[in-house]
Amino acid sequence: MPHSPHPNIMTMPSESLPSFKIALLGAAGGIGQPLSLLIKSQLHLAVSAGATRIHLAMYDVAAETLVGVHADLAHIDTPVAVSAHFPGGDAAHSLGSCLQGADLVLCPAGMARRPGMTRADLFATNASIVRSLARDIAMHCDLATVHVLLISNPVNSLVPVVVRTLQQCELQPSGIEKRVLGVTALDATRASTFLGEECGNLHDFPRVPVIGGHSGATILPVFSQCPQADDLSQQTVAKLVQRVQNGGDEVVKAKNGKGSATLAMAHCGFRMLAQVSRMLIHRDGDIAASAYVALTHADGTPVAPGAQELMARNGGLHYFAVPITLSPQGVEEIRYRIVDYLNYNELNELLPVCIEHLRKDIELGVQFQLE
Ligand code: NAI
Repeated sequence: MPHSPHPNIMTMPSESLPSFKIALLGAAGGIGQPLSLLIKSQLHLAVSAGATRIHLAMYDVAAETLVGVHADLAHIDTPVAVSAHFPGGDAAHSLGSCLQGADLVLCPAGMARRPGMTRADLFATNASIVRSLARDIAMHCDLATVHVLLISNPVNSLVPVVVRTLQQCELQPSGIEKRVLGVTALDATRASTFLGEECGNLHDFPRVPVIGGHSGATILPVFSQCPQADDLSQQTVAKLVQRVQNGGDEVVKAKNGKGSATLAMAHCGFRMLAQVSRMLIHRDGDIAASAYVALTHADGTPVAPGAQELMARNGGLHYFAVPITLSPQGVEEIRYRIVDYLNYNELNELLPVCIEHLRKDIELGVQFQLE
């Protein structure tokens, strides 16, 4: 068992000031470490935290690594407080104390892909991990307010596992399904980067909406929504689509057995985290975001306006990556119109394949035993 971090976690926030707490589960991993660094070094600036004290509570089962990462980060002179939590830690360093009072839980915990593996190959291991963590979230967080950002793969199947587990644990309907967001931001960033490179525009990267899911053919970059792509041939756009869909494989191959995307993921995860944190800290209105979300409550009713309309267009799937409007209460609107603007190829070639694959991925998550 590692030494507990210094008991006076001098970086803990003062009780008297307003505070904002992020629990990062899987903080010692390939994504968790750079994400922790970005949070510790940048988040207070990115959200204009003012008097609000930000607290990053890091948890990982790799206790020794986590304690070392905490000691390292704790030497950075920013006002973001950091604390370390691990199995076998005392009460102040337990998973419960990590989650207690968290406004936002960010989860990259679990196994990453190695060459030759698909995201689906990770399912059995990672579904058990996120199911167990979701039970802890239900036990220690306020399900009526907490936001959960899930990075662990396969996102397409694990978001249903997390949503169902939290629903099973809630004592009364809390609307938690409106606040579980599967992080698909890396797909949009890759689409933006690859299109910018193709157009020779490396200063003002275009924003490319990406819908569907976060795995292979379920990733549907909507290049038709980008004027920058107008002049590209169909063949070039098809190549860009392929590259976005297989962007993760490019990195897995290049790292040759030493992991999957971590740095670009930390960058995208941080951007999304900062966006959601800013909204939660300042409470100054809704924001536009994009994520893989549940479209229905446990009783089958739509989570928000636009959900029913999207299901009429996505073959009735109950989970989908889509532009959303997000408030502190969670998803306020599903911006389903994006599907109406798809061009002929996106609508008739890419969307049907996306739906076919995504249906199976969702089924896998929905069938997973919660007991
Ligand atoms: P990694 O293996 O480097 O780190 C995972 C960390 O999770 C390890 O430190 C491990 O000790 C920890 N962990 C395992 N079980 C845990 C538990 N029960 N509680 C807390 N921590 C636990 O993997 P990496 O590269 O950080 O990737 C993490 C996940 O993110 C993978 O599933 C990967 O496929 C996924 N990913 C998702 C992306 C996305 O766009 N959503 C992009 C890239 C990766």
